[in-house]
Amino acid sequence: MQAAIGSQRCVRRASEPVDMSTPASDVITDSSALMDERVLVLDFGSQYAQLIARRVREQNVYCQIVRHDISAERIAEYAPRGIILSGGPSSVYEDGAPRCDPKLFELGIPVLGICYGMQLACDALGGSVQHTPSREYGRAHCEVTDAADLFDGLPTNMQVWMSHGDQVSSVGEMFHAQARTETCPFAAVKHASLPVYGLQFHPEVTHTPEGKQLLRNFVLRVCGCTGKWQLSDFAEETIGQIREIVGDRRVICGLSGGVDSSVVAALLYKAIGPQLACILVDNGLLRKAEQADVVKAFTEHFKADLHVVDAGPQFMEALEGISEPQEKRRRIGHQFIEAFKSEATKIESAHFLAQGTLYPDVIESGAAQDGPAATIKLHHNVGGLPEELGFELIEPLRDLFKDEVRRLGIELGLPEDLVWRHPFPGPGLAVRCLGEITEEKLAVLREADAIVVEEVKAAGLYRQTSQTFAVLLPVQSVGVMGDARTYDNCVAVRSVDTDDFMTADWSRLPYDLLAKISTRIINEVKGVNRVCYDISSKPPATIEWE
Ligand code: XMP
Repeated sequence: MQAAIGSQRCVRRASEPVDMSTPASDVITDSSALMDERVLVLDFGSQYAQLIARRVREQNVYCQIVRHDISAERIAEYAPRGIILSGGPSSVYEDGAPRCDPKLFELGIPVLGICYGMQLACDALGGSVQHTPSREYGRAHCEVTDAADLFDGLPTNMQVWMSHGDQVSSVGEMFHAQARTETCPFAAVKHASLPVYGLQFHPEVTHTPEGKQLLRNFVLRVCGCTGKWQLSDFAEETIGQIREIVGDRRVICGLSGGVDSSVVAALLYKAIGPQLACILVDNGLLRKAEQADVVKAFTEHFKADLHVVDAGPQFMEALEGISEPQEKRRRIGHQFIEAFKSEATKIESAHFLAQGTLYPDVIESGAAQDGPAATIKLHHNVGGLPEELGFELIEPLRDLFKDEVRRLGIELGLPEDLVWRHPFPGPGLAVRCLGEITEEKLAVLREADAIVVEEVKAAGLYRQTSQTFAVLLPVQSVGVMGDARTYDNCVAVRSVDTDDFMTADWSRLPYDLLAKISTRIINEVKGVNRVCYDISSKPPATIEWE
């Protein structure tokens, strides 16, 4: 059975490869009425393609990322209201530089080229592009010379964010400039007769303060979208589709207490009530009071069939003597499948497994219909599990970004503190307790971690930071407590700010807060005499320590 929720098929057999082969007509006829007003982003390898899509969706217009070489015919089948050509690291005049189908400019659909996308549009339509002697990177002041269309209602002088080595050097008769900077005469251009626009700077980043309005002007004014993509409508429609697909069969949902699985469970519960069974595997690597918190939140808000599997001892046994991070992860993954499988087989007539796959997972794994090829990571969400169990997968969030999932959670009535929980990795405290895991070390880490989170919340900074936690280092150091010499553990505090978790900066937590965290941990957690703050960003460091 194959069915569609939203624009992508959200149900597939676990053994089915993620597919690029569904006939075009399937996708188009299956697409939701809510997505009538669709904007496509052609991805030329930009680090910002997802950000562009999110910015468009902030205008309540559905936006989808597709690969750069999608044919004009295929684009026409999607019937988008607008097309955005993303930036990218290449030079248009290089051999093998990614190009778009030039026929897309003849479709009559408005096109906005950003940075490389602008250079490509100008190059395809008669302009020329040159390497600039000094790569322009950073803030620039832009003077608007034609306040029409994209620039409607915007100030004449604005700050913009540039990041390019090439720029358009001449546009002939075909384009005219709408804005310039000191070094860039064509900071924004408009075609003379086609609805084609270009911006040399990046409107999608916050360093271009008017960027949001620029994109809004493109989507609403130039493309004529009305902005009717609403999460509440999405929820209602998805719930209807789940009911239709599931019929009278049962669905299993693995619950971790994180936002994605909670929102999936909430959607499914609204759709099919008692036909939903949730499984929470307590691997003994959860944070302080986590199992109780999840059960409480879950039973208060869903009242569905919840199975809690206390598998801590099996996980500890599997981890005994293991300190190599990848081996820890492998063993934890294996144990998880065993524990989940043995509980799942007790649930009669279960046919589906629901999974909180998000749009970035779909894009980065190369699994999106017409999406760019996989460049970043494999689809790791429930590694191996569906295949082992032979279920069909339901992935109702595969069209959504994380912030949309959070908003959907609120729409569905989930409590704020659940919806805004920081992510917690599947292998749990095992990747934050460096080296070999023991119950004693986990107990120390749990206490220290609880203090970190409690103090960050008390300082009102939990929502501002993206992920905050403690790490127990495999290091003992000398200290003095009272009059006695100590030789005890060291805890590292990690807090990062990020939009996408692929890059992250360390949070500039106030010194007073760090002092309080350090004092409390050293005073209250037996076995710790030293606290450090991790000031590494990602890359090159990762968020987790293992
Ligand atoms: P890193 O450490 O790679 O983490 O910078 C990026 C984000 O992914 C989370 N993470 C995981 N999540 N299973 C998960 O479900 C895992 O094995 C895993 N490893 C890392 C991490 O917490 C951060 O949010």
